[in-house]
Amino acid sequence: MSIAFLLNGTPVRIEGEAPTRTLLDWLRSGGLTGTKEGCNEGDCGACTVMVTDASGSKALNACILFLPQLHGKAVRTVEGISGPKGEMHPVQVAMVSHHGSQCGFCTPGFVVSMAVAHLNGDRAHDDALAGNLCRCTGYAPIIRAAEAAAGEAVPEWMKADRAAVAEFAAGEAGVFRPADSDALADWYLANPDAVLVAGATDVGLWVTKQLRDLTPVAFLNGVKDLQGIEVQGGQLHVGACVTIDALREAVAERMPSFGEMLRRYASVQVRNAATIGGNIANGSPIGDGPPALIALGATLHLRRGDEMRSMPLEDFFIEYRKQDRMPGEFVAGVSFPERADALRCYKISKRFDQDISAVCGCFNVTVEDGRVIEARIAFGGMAGVPKRAAMAEAALVGRDWTEATVEAAAEAMAGDFTPMTDMRASAGYRMLTAQNLMRRYFQDLNGTPVSVLEVTA
Ligand SMILES: Cc1cc2nc3c(=O)[nH]c(=O)nc-3n(C[C@H](O)[C@H](O)[C@H](O)COP(=O)(O)OP(=O)(O)OC[C@H]3O[C@@H](n4cnc5c(N)ncnc54)[C@H](O)[C@@H]3O)c2cc1C
Ligand code: FES
Ligand code: FES
Repeated sequence: MSIAFLLNGTPVRIEGEAPTRTLLDWLRSGGLTGTKEGCNEGDCGACTVMVTDASGSKALNACILFLPQLHGKAVRTVEGISGPKGEMHPVQVAMVSHHGSQCGFCTPGFVVSMAVAHLNGDRAHDDALAGNLCRCTGYAPIIRAAEAAAGEAVPEWMKADRAAVAEFAAGEAGVFRPADSDALADWYLANPDAVLVAGATDVGLWVTKQLRDLTPVAFLNGVKDLQGIEVQGGQLHVGACVTIDALREAVAERMPSFGEMLRRYASVQVRNAATIGGNIANGSPIGDGPPALIALGATLHLRRGDEMRSMPLEDFFIEYRKQDRMPGEFVAGVSFPERADALRCYKISKRFDQDISAVCGCFNVTVEDGRVIEARIAFGGMAGVPKRAAMAEAALVGRDWTEATVEAAAEAMAGDFTPMTDMRASAGYRMLTAQNLMRRYFQDLNGTPVSVLEVTA
C-alpha cells in the first residue's frame, strides 16, 4: 500500500500499512492526538476531520475511514484548523467566548465540524452538529458560538486545501481502487470473495468493533461512473457510489418528505461517506433507503462481469441478510420516478437525530377522483427485510380514499408483519406504530400538520 494525501497542508505518503488501518488510529499513533476517539463507530463525532477533494470540503469521522479512502485528498485535523502562526480560527474564538467547552473531550470534533460548516457557508447549525455529541456543556452555548462565528470571514489557510489538492499528484495507491465500473467488474469476477468498501460506514465497524481481517478489499470511492445522478425519461438514475448526502440534495426539492428523512439519516459525517449502493447491498432490515425506494417503485441494477440485470428493488431482499446477489456481482445503481407527490417517509427512532430507525414507514398512494388506484407501502424494522405491506395495499386499492378505508388498511397490516422485540422497540410498539403511520399518512395527505417539528400543543 502506498497512500498519499495532504495532511494539514503537507504531503504525506504511507507505505506498508494494512489497507484497513483507520485514519484515526494512524493520526493518533503519529502524535496528532487532538482528534479524539470516543465511540470508534461513527456515532459521536469526537474524531471529526475535514476532507477535501474536487467535490469540496466535508466533515467525516476518522474512526471509520480507511487510509486508502483518502488517497489523493487533503485531510485537515483540529491541529490544522488554527493558522500557521497559531492564529485561532473564528469558531475557536467563539467557542471560548461563548463557553462552548467544559471537559473539552468533544471540543476538537465540534470545532472541526463548525469550521467545515463555516467554510461552506452552511448556517444550518443543528444539522451540521447533529453528529457531534457533548456530554457536559450542553448544546446551547455551542450553537451560540456557531452563530457568532458565522458572520466572520473564512481564514485563508482554510481555503488552501481546495487549490492544493487540485495540484497534488498522489501516484499509484498500491491497493485495488478501480477508476471505473469496467475495471471493478473484471476484478470482482476474478475475486468474488473480496470485500467491496464503498463509504465504510458499515464495513468500518467490522474492523473497529468485530476486529475482522478483511483482505482482499476493493475501494470503490474512485469509481467515477457510479457517482452520477441523471434524470432521464422522468426517472432519476442514481449510481451505487452516490453518497446519502448527494442523494438527499437531489431529492430535497423533488420529494421533500424523502429529503427530510435523509436529513435524519445518521449525521452529516456519516451521510458524507455512506453510499446508496452500500445501504442497499448491506441488506439491513432497518436501513432507511430501501423502504423509501420500494415505495417509489425503484428498479435495482446489478452487474456481474459484462452482464447487467435489473429487478424491482423489493425482490432483491430475500430473507434476513440474504440478498439476490451472485458471487462477483455488485450493485451498479438504482432508478426511480423523478417525482412522487404522494410519497411520505416517516422515520421513528428513539432519538430524533443520529439514530437508527425502530420503524421506518414509506407510503405512496395514488388517488384519482377520490378512489385509490395504486398503493405502494414499504416498511423497515417490521420484518427481517425491508418489506411491502401487501395486505394493507390490497385493502386500499379500488376503494374510496376515506378514513374508513384507511382504518381497514391499518387493521389489515396486522397480517403483513410479525415484528420482533429488540433494544429499539417491542413487537407491540412496532405494530401499533406502523398502523398509526397509516393513519398519519391519511391526515398528512389531507393537509394536517403531522411532523413533530410542526405540531404544537
Ligand atoms: C453512526 C452510524 C449511523 C447510521 N445511521 C443510519 C441511518 O440512520 N439509516 C441507515 O439506513 N443506515 C445508517 N447507518 C448504516 C450505514 O450508514 C448504511 O448502511 C450505509 O449506507 C452503508 O453504505 P456504505 O457506502 O458506507 O457501505 P459500506 O460500509 O462500504 O458497505 C456495506 C456493505 O455493502 C457492500 N457494498 C458496498 N457497496 C456495494 C456495491 N456497490 N455493490 C455490492 N456491494 C456493495 C459492502 O461490501 C458491505 O457488505 C449508520 C451507520 C453508522 C456508522
Ligand atoms: S470516535 Fe465516535 S465518531 Fe469516531
Ligand atoms: S465539553 Fe465535555 S463532552 Fe463536551
